[in-house]
Amino acid sequence: MDVIQPIAWSRDGTGVRVLDQRELPAREVYRDLHTVDEVCDAIRALAVRGAPAIGIAGAMGMTLALDGAERCGEEVMIRLGEAHAQIRSARPTAVNLAWAVDRMLDVARGANSRGEDVIEVLRGEATRILEEDRAMCRKIGEHGASLIPDGSRVLTHCNTGALATGGIGTALAAVYVAVEQGKHIEVFADETRPLLQGSRLSAWELERAGIPATVLVDGAAASLMAANKVDLCMVGADRIAANGDTANKIGTYGLAIAAKHHGIPFYVAAPTSTFDAATKTGAEIHIEQRSADEVRCGFGALTAPATVDVYNPAFDVTPASLITAIVSDRGVHRPPFAF
Ligand code: MRU
Repeated sequence: MDVIQPIAWSRDGTGVRVLDQRELPAREVYRDLHTVDEVCDAIRALAVRGAPAIGIAGAMGMTLALDGAERCGEEVMIRLGEAHAQIRSARPTAVNLAWAVDRMLDVARGANSRGEDVIEVLRGEATRILEEDRAMCRKIGEHGASLIPDGSRVLTHCNTGALATGGIGTALAAVYVAVEQGKHIEVFADETRPLLQGSRLSAWELERAGIPATVLVDGAAASLMAANKVDLCMVGADRIAANGDTANKIGTYGLAIAAKHHGIPFYVAAPTSTFDAATKTGAEIHIEQRSADEVRCGFGALTAPATVDVYNPAFDVTPASLITAIVSDRGVHRPPFAF
């Protein structure tokens, strides 16, 4: 498969190159980011998105805090501390972002205390985070594919493929590997209101990979299940609490309830970097609230009165009791969950 690379170092090595996902599926536009501010803007505006991908972008973005004039010392660590705080707060729900920039700051502290060239060490660490994610995606795909029988019709939500990660994805990785194994798989992709990651991004990726995909509006998912057209649901995660409660794109919770009602297995797939043992249950997860205009006029045209109040959480929490199994790079985890 021709793997999409949503994040990489820029060609001259001085910046971070992202595939601007706001432009898809109409145009494939790559942008080079050269400052911490630009990286934070790209993360907030969803030019780069998906829990693993924003972690990688945040890690690479930390290297942009330094101009190379100083190799280590107090001033370098102050600048890195500021960049860390700024990037970490760009989006609150996906734990991968905090996990990645915390790891970068720890590594910088160690390098600084040894008098090493901090920026060089950080570039190496960010590359490692990207490569580790690529390897974890492959493992998730292999474990996840074992849950997908030949001939399955898989319902998914948001985008959890190559665009959301450093590799082939998480929930969609399971589909990609199942197809590699020769299985015939059909995917139903929820449109995913309000920013349409399912119809704009998952459908684009799946078409590129030659996998049969059908887009449906989110409100049609329960009726598709009732019509006996879904064999299993496979979704991603932004943060998995110690008890298995899972935050993911808004609408995931409703999908899990509908799946339970219809007796359809509901699987979550995520890398180790999405598990947050410090968060005991889903009730502790900070849910990002986004702009009202994403709902009132997300793609230009008014779709609600311009001044109407809007409820626009970016994520919801699916209780562990609705999840059949959680797939990670370490294997398939069954309830009761304890991470
Ligand atoms: O707001 P987004 O597009 O960043 O939300 C992404 C999701 O909810 C994904 O399902 C999740 O990050 C997993 S991506 C492998």
